[in-house]
Amino acid sequence: MIEQIQALQQEAEDALAGAKAIQDVEALRVRFLGKKGALTGLLRGLGSLSVEERPQVGQAANEVKQAIEARIADAFDRLKKQAQQEQRSKRSVDVSLPGSPPLVGSLHPLTLVRQEILDIFGRMGFRVEVGPEVETEFFNFEALGIPKDHPARDMQDTFYVGEQMVLRTHTSPVQIRAVLERRKPPVRIVAPGAVYRRDSDVSHSPMFHQVEGLMIEEGVHFGHLKGILDTFAREMFGEKNTTRFRPSYFPFTEPSAEVDVSCFLCDAKGCRVCKDTGWIEILGCGMVDPVVFEEVANYDERTEYDPTSVTGFAFGMGIERIAMLKYRIPDIRLFFDNDINFLKQFGS
Ligand code: DAH
Repeated sequence: MIEQIQALQQEAEDALAGAKAIQDVEALRVRFLGKKGALTGLLRGLGSLSVEERPQVGQAANEVKQAIEARIADAFDRLKKQAQQEQRSKRSVDVSLPGSPPLVGSLHPLTLVRQEILDIFGRMGFRVEVGPEVETEFFNFEALGIPKDHPARDMQDTFYVGEQMVLRTHTSPVQIRAVLERRKPPVRIVAPGAVYRRDSDVSHSPMFHQVEGLMIEEGVHFGHLKGILDTFAREMFGEKNTTRFRPSYFPFTEPSAEVDVSCFLCDAKGCRVCKDTGWIEILGCGMVDPVVFEEVANYDERTEYDPTSVTGFAFGMGIERIAMLKYRIPDIRLFFDNDINFLKQFGS
């Protein structure tokens, strides 16, 4: 019986050496060492042996069992390593294949235009100032000469967000904040940011962006305003471009004007964008109305803007409008759709 057991070891070792897959090894383990396996089968005959023979056979069986178990473990190891090696060689990189270029992001067209506007005014000494998008009614309206019953405060246009709180409808309240913060002239700022109005179509979005400008300095007059905005228009749209100031009305400036730039798309010859007029409106502006200085003085008596003598000018423009003109974008909503095929056209 001992010989039979030892022959079993040989048989198992031969079979394991030939095993080609992990499943084969598992099958061999069941065949030789399983509950119904060959070794268990042989040991069933133990009962018929003499009391002296039993321990010897038992010991031999144990040794054989351990030997087979060790071989099984070896075989598992060998096949596992082999499988890993195969996996690795399958995954290996073919360095001769062409690479895929990484996706390079680009700045949003509104970011590009905003930066260009701020750069131009920055070179003329205007520092960037920001204000909150949730604004008090006082800063958004009253301090700018827009009293409670003014049509600009119509519920149609303004998002009210609480008791006397609105989403700012323009960047003009930053004028008030800048003036209050400095307490006295000089003030020379540009204020970019998001503004909100209840309006939506191809040229209106409920959220859009403006850049506000304000300059208050001794002796500032309308000629300075014209010079600054003229310089801006030429730097923004091209050396050849001229501006035209049309009289207009804003509650916080007097006199007020709207500024047209000669159509830079058709060289002022007349096209669809300028509606054959040769001019495109780009901003509103004017001399700061004394009512603004009065409101500021009433709000904070420590300020030193004498409404009877201090002068300044202000202007405001829509970033989307300028970007639409510059890039000939037909629908304002394209800016906010986050369509990568649209956005990637604007370079870096
Ligand atoms: N706040 C005005 C608007 O949203 C634009 C504007 C006009 C701003 C004239 C100004 C200005 O500073 O002087 O329509």
